[in-house]
Amino acid sequence: MQKVAVITGAASGIGRGLAERFAAEGMNVVLADVEAEALAELETDLKSKGADVLTVQTDVSNAAEVENLAGQTLETFGAVHILCNNAGVVCSRPIWEHTLADWEWVLGVNLWGVIHGIRTFVPRMLTQGDACHIVNTASILGLIGGGGTGIYKVSKHGVVVLSEALADELAQKGANIQVHVLCPGWVRTGILDSDRNRPDTLQNRETQTPARLQTIGGSGNARAEMEAGMSPAEVAEHVYNAIQTGTFYIHTHPEHKAAIRERMERILE
Ligand SMILES: NC(=O)c1ccc[n+]([C@@H]2O[C@H](COP(=O)([O-])OP(=O)(O)OC[C@H]3O[C@@H](n4cnc5c(N)ncnc54)[C@H](O)[C@@H]3O)[C@@H](O)[C@H]2O)c1
Repeated sequence: MQKVAVITGAASGIGRGLAERFAAEGMNVVLADVEAEALAELETDLKSKGADVLTVQTDVSNAAEVENLAGQTLETFGAVHILCNNAGVVCSRPIWEHTLADWEWVLGVNLWGVIHGIRTFVPRMLTQGDACHIVNTASILGLIGGGGTGIYKVSKHGVVVLSEALADELAQKGANIQVHVLCPGWVRTGILDSDRNRPDTLQNRETQTPARLQTIGGSGNARAEMEAGMSPAEVAEHVYNAIQTGTFYIHTHPEHKAAIRERMERILE
């Protein structure tokens, strides 16, 4: 049977890189995103290269929409083998200045999106019984602490520990599902323009404080660091290899390992 990969946040950046990589392997790909136009453009591009593609406009923070994504996937392709819970957004101010809308938006997409993906797809994968993979996109900011980008860090630490718990529980059950957690540093994507997809209902009308993003590389200029980052295609290659080798933590930027070690040592001290 041809493999089926579902990717959320597929219309841009890392998600698009994953979709292109899986399609190049001859998999059927299911593209889920809120951004309809970018989704349609990717669909046309992948189809012109011979891929079998289903696009489902999906807001991952909405359980019913993720349920619809799973339903349409099974109806169209009959199975699911890889789920990439990848959609994500960022927004950053000093923690006490964040509005409730900020918390709801970022946790809704980054953490609840992954929760909905797991709740919806894992039972179907268990019933199916074939070898399956779940790739949750966290971040290097899911492994380190410190000030800056607080809500995002909360969401990504949540994704890391959720993935660890899921992997252990599936292994204890003897399930044929492997879990992977992707923890990249900077990647050249649209992430710094996340506001383009912020829903009207969660806009930040009550504050004019400009967003301030943490600069992982310490330069003070997040956009310059991001633009010098890794390509989505290279990240997708790391993910593809991790699926082949059964690697749980996917480190695309080993230069950040020292910061992880430093945090762990601070905790133990
Ligand atoms: N770019 C980086 O440097 C970097 C580093 C570490 C982790 N990440 C993570 O990678 C993932 C992908 O982000 P990216 O960098 O490719 O950014 P991106 O903005 O290029 O892509 C994110 C995609 O998610 C979609 N999206 C936003 N809200 C959504 C929602 N509610 N439902 C469905 N889709 C939604 C957007 O439309 C967009 O297509 C995110 O989880 C992000 O946190 C990015």
